[in-house]
Amino acid sequence: MRTPARPRFPPPIIKFAERDDIPELVGVWLAAERTNLLMFYHFPTEESRSEYAKEVIKQFEDNFDKPHLLVLKAVDPETKQITAMAVWQKRGYKFSPQSDDIFAAAGIVLNGTLTSSCDKITSKSVTQSLERYIETQFEQFLVSWSRDSKHLYLALLMTDPKFQRRGIGTAMLEWGHKYADEAGIPAFLIASPVGHPLYQHVGWKDVDTPLQIDMSQWAAGAQGGDMGWGVYKYYYMLRMPKTADS
Ligand SMILES: CC(C)(COP(=O)(O)OP(=O)(O)OC[C@H]1O[C@@H](n2cnc3c(N)ncnc32)[C@H](O)[C@@H]1OP(=O)(O)O)[C@@H](O)C(=O)NCCC(=O)NCCS
Repeated sequence: MRTPARPRFPPPIIKFAERDDIPELVGVWLAAERTNLLMFYHFPTEESRSEYAKEVIKQFEDNFDKPHLLVLKAVDPETKQITAMAVWQKRGYKFSPQSDDIFAAAGIVLNGTLTSSCDKITSKSVTQSLERYIETQFEQFLVSWSRDSKHLYLALLMTDPKFQRRGIGTAMLEWGHKYADEAGIPAFLIASPVGHPLYQHVGWKDVDTPLQIDMSQWAAGAQGGDMGWGVYKYYYMLRMPKTADS
């Protein structure tokens, strides 16, 4: 029996986001992250998620004009709705911050924002130490692989769940590939378990050993009983630039 043909969707319009887009971008981000295990760990209630959304909007507004950030939106050609968002960072440039924890993680904001929202719902020391642990591991990876040389880093890629599996994430990545190829620079990212198949699909390679976080070691009350937390894996990935003759 033949497999039914996959429906064809019009290609998204990819362009730089504008400041006015911030609330919609954050809406897409949080909708895409709704089933993320780490998000659930940090923000288990609607109330905590809504507090977090406000903080993320503020963080976005404070950082939006930084020259090393390339904030993209994908727009549905028919409805003009924002269907996906991506944040690429230019790292190793003169204007790039030395250590940049804003938008550092693939999916969660790791800095005071996270901690301040979390304090309300769980033990501060436990949450802070997981936050710090992840942040340190990410930074070690970037430092050891890039050695401060110029590179592009994908800090966030989120497609609204209603628009997933239509090629929008791929289009966002292709934008970055073109940018990196023209600049002749490598690109790095740290993939969530959900993002990993997409990056493999478009040619990114795993480098280094994945970061494995046994959530039962971190989640309050999980030790000594299987609370279904499981192991969360981050994959370190690299894409080398393509030259005209490669
Ligand atoms: C990961 C994510 C950005 C993918 O966006 P998308 O717009 O659906 O991606 P695409 O439609 O371009 O996917 C292209 C290919 O990647 C692979 N892929 C994408 N999502 C996949 C999934 N959930 N499971 C398995 N393969 C997947 C498939 O090969 C897919 O091709 P196919 O649909 O023809 O099978 C989206 O699922 C998302 O926002 N997830 C939650 C947030 C997140 O984890 N972001 C990544 C942070 S590193």
